[in-house]
This record gives sequence, C-alpha cells and structure tokens, in this order.
Amino acid sequence: MAVTILGIESSCDDTSAAVIRDGLLLSNVIASQSVHEEYGGVVPELASRAHQQNIVPVVDAALRRAGVDKHQLSAIAFTRGPGLLGSLLVGTSFAKGLSLGLRVPIVEVNHLHGHVLSHFVRANPDDEVPEFPFLTLLISGGNSQLVMVRNYNDMEIIGQTIDDAAGEAFDKCAKVMGLPYPGGPHIDRLAAEGDPKRFKFAKPHIPGLDYSFSGLKTSFLYTLRDNIKLDPEFIEKNKADLAASLQSTIIAILLDKLDKAVKQTGVRTVAIGGGVSANSGVRGAVADYCAAHGIRAFIPKRAFTTDNAAMIAIAGYFKYLDKIFCRYDAAPFARVNV
Ligand code: KG4
Repeated sequence: MAVTILGIESSCDDTSAAVIRDGLLLSNVIASQSVHEEYGGVVPELASRAHQQNIVPVVDAALRRAGVDKHQLSAIAFTRGPGLLGSLLVGTSFAKGLSLGLRVPIVEVNHLHGHVLSHFVRANPDDEVPEFPFLTLLISGGNSQLVMVRNYNDMEIIGQTIDDAAGEAFDKCAKVMGLPYPGGPHIDRLAAEGDPKRFKFAKPHIPGLDYSFSGLKTSFLYTLRDNIKLDPEFIEKNKADLAASLQSTIIAILLDKLDKAVKQTGVRTVAIGGGVSANSGVRGAVADYCAAHGIRAFIPKRAFTTDNAAMIAIAGYFKYLDKIFCRYDAAPFARVNV
C-alpha cells in the first residue's frame, strides 16, 4: 500500500503543509506572514496568531493540490522544534488533533533534520539524491552547523557556531546599513555589484570545526563607527562594496571549516541547506570548491532553502519507514541539536 505523509511546518513565520507519497512530492503549500515587516524582525505572538489563521486553509490546499483525501494519509509529520514555542505549538497541536481524528500515527521532525533531508525531496523518481555518507553545511538565521549524515535517521553535528549564526551576521550587519529585515537577500543583491576586497573584516580563530560570527559582526560595526561615524551618506555610497566585502568574509569563514571537515571525514559528497544557502555567493563558492576537489555538490533549489513542509514530510516519511513514531505528550522545544 502507498505510504502518504502529510508534513506540517510552523517553526517560525511560515505556515506550510506538504504531501509526499512513496517518497515523491505531490504538493507543498507555504503561507508567509507579512505582518512582521514593519517591526524589523519576527514578533513571536503575532507569528502564533497568524499560524492559527493559516493552518487549516494551508493543510486543506496541500491535500487538494496533491489530490489526496485526508483518509488516505498514512501518518502526519510535524516540526517539533527548534523554533518559536508559540508557533510550534500551533503545528504540533494541529498534527495531534488530526492524527487522533484520522487514527493515524504522528511523527515528530527536528526542523534541522528536515533541512538536511531536503535534498531527498523529489518530484520525479529520476531526480538525483545524495549518496551516504555526506556532509551538510547547514546555514540559517538560527544555526550554522556541519552535519555528518550517515543515513536518513543517523546524523551527527561535527561543528557548529559558538555564538551567532551565519544568517545573523548577514542580518545584523544589514541592519546597521539601514537595510530592511531580513537583510541577507539585500546583501546578496548589493554584493553582486561591489568590490569584495574593498573592506577587511575580522575572521575568527576558533580551533576545530566550530564557527563563530560575532567577531565579524563587531568588526563590521567598528569599521563603520571608527572610520565614518555611521555616516549614512558614506554607507549609501559604499553599500555595494560593504555588502560584497561582508559576504566574501562570511563565505571565507564557511568554506574554511567546510574544507577542514571534508579533509577530516574524507567524504566525497557535500550538501548545503538552510536560508543562507540561497545566497548566490555561497552557492557559487561551494560549487567551485567541490568542482576543484572532485566532490559532488548538492545545492538546493531556492524554494527548498527556506522553511517548507516538503522537507518535514520527507523526513517524516523516512522515520515512518523506520517505524519511529512519537507520543501524544511530545511538547515542542525551542532549542536543540539535530
Ligand atoms: O532557514 P531560514 O529561512 O530560517 C531561520 O533559521 O530563521 O533562514 C533565514 C536566514 C536569514 O538570516 C536570511 O537573511 C538568510 O537566511 N537568507 C540569506 C539569503 N536568503 C535568506 N542570506 C544571504 N543571502 C541570501 N540570499
């Protein structure tokens, strides 16, 4: 019998539902929340309320677009964490309620586990997927990790940030430049026209495979404050060079540890994932690095770099196949590792 999984993602400010049947994606619906724009960041209470409004229509649309009746579902997968507790509670409670009503099991999915497995979301059986073992560079607004993936349900964090995430470095520096939130995509756009060698920012000296981005952020701020006293005119005139220099420093930091991890583990396949993997510079640099070292690179489609339920559904599918279900008293969690 076909295995049909409904995935639900509500960890931050996107409400998403997706349907996967026998490992193939049938639908992936995302409702983004514009309510946060005027606050320069996600407001947790507003996010939970928007999730509550969105969840029923989004799940309904995902089932309709997939051509699947809810009684055909084998299980319901949901993001249990990490993320905003109030937001997670909406998806978690909805998944539990629907599963009780339909008498099908629930499968909890770690959001980061979902990002790692997003490369297995296929629309066609011929689409290529990574071979195990592989290394994932997971870079988002909340996390920067190097994850060794041995199998669908067997992965280990071998390096991670000790302070800010790569996305935070993008967003916080962009904020200083007066760019809208989230600043990452704006830096990406501006960097395309700038000189990456114009400004020099600090790079961390952290041993092993761990990352650090807070020093870079401070150095960016001090460059502006000391030299030009946060002069808006200077920033405006030099925004492309500032963006290009910042982006190239972040890429250098990311690639330095990726290279170390590749050498240490001997993997022949590298994947990237998370919001920051949408960055043109990061995508190009990882592709070039892999080509130069004879390594296979998996760069996600931009649609799968941001939060989506397709990755939750595929992670849930592989857990379902391994019969890893969850109890009804499973509460959401805000912070945890893969
Ligand atoms: O994975 P994600 O959607 O969710 C969180 O972890 O919150 O990642 C969001 C992060 C933000 O920091 C955003 O600025 C960054 O991904 N981002 C980018 C780009 N697109 C999104 N950073 C740099 N360049 C981009 N094109």
